[in-house]
Amino acid sequence: MSEFKVFITRRLPTDLEQLQQFANVEVWEQRQPPPYEVLLEKVKEVDGLLCLLTDKIDKQLIEASDSLKVISQMAVGYDNIDIAAATERMIPVGYTPDVLTDATADFTWGLLMTSARRIVEASQFTRTGKWQTWEPDLLLGSQVTGATLGIVGLGRIGKAVAHRAQGFDMRILYTSNRCDVHLENTLGVEFVSLERLLQESDFVTIHMPLTQNNYHMFGDEQFALMKSSAVLINTARGGIIDPDALYRALSKGTIAGAAIDVTEPEPIPTDSPLLTLDNLIITPHVASASRQTREKMANMAIDNLIAGLKGDRLHDCVNSDIYH
Ligand code: DGY
Repeated sequence: MSEFKVFITRRLPTDLEQLQQFANVEVWEQRQPPPYEVLLEKVKEVDGLLCLLTDKIDKQLIEASDSLKVISQMAVGYDNIDIAAATERMIPVGYTPDVLTDATADFTWGLLMTSARRIVEASQFTRTGKWQTWEPDLLLGSQVTGATLGIVGLGRIGKAVAHRAQGFDMRILYTSNRCDVHLENTLGVEFVSLERLLQESDFVTIHMPLTQNNYHMFGDEQFALMKSSAVLINTARGGIIDPDALYRALSKGTIAGAAIDVTEPEPIPTDSPLLTLDNLIITPHVASASRQTREKMANMAIDNLIAGLKGDRLHDCVNSDIYH
């Protein structure tokens, strides 16, 4: 039996056989994440940790372990992990980019179409027996084809969303930390300031990691710039939007609607006023949740974990500067 011990913070949608040949594997079998105190004790005895975005991997936890050789996160986002603390201890942090790009872009598109054409409301209307006849002005929504789409953050997922928007003949604006002329030519996107993007877009979609700089980047001021007919979509991280400001914008009609897969906090409290709004579509952080994608994410996280245990360079490493 191997000398390595690993802890996996939830059941994964893949086979653990390859990993089990290599390490003693303990899986947290419960539906809820392990409490912080449990995690704190576990890291003291393991060589590898495979974690999820629901696990808080902070400095205290990282420094509590003398044995930890690798942290492997099954997600592309890693705002739950103190990367600086891991880097200080020379612990590589793995993540799972690329494999979830299409699933997330597909879901973003689903949210966009669903909110534009009021599909959830229409379904509810039908189920509750309100459909009496065909009416010229029943459940009118916004046309997607030919509309202006504003993409906030043109990374992998933002680009995949832009690619889908091309098929709908949309005018595509984007804002990002830099203008990419090559992308402008290939994707037909136009780099603009955030202010202009908010003012001119019919649909605004967020695709950026959560950082200290963009926490609550969408607040009253930003909603006030948007068209009253605009729809906001967020499949990135809840913390990018101030939830109180979103409630004000949706309830007062500052913007027409929103469709969000991520909230702050997660899960959204059941008494959140946002849940009372008809012009909000909300889903439980499932944008990457296609069977194929989640299996690939789990396999990638396992590969990163094994590489870290072996002392090899991780294929997808957040803090690859530790290797220099
Ligand atoms: C991620 O990977 O960061 C997504 O939010 C969950 O799939």
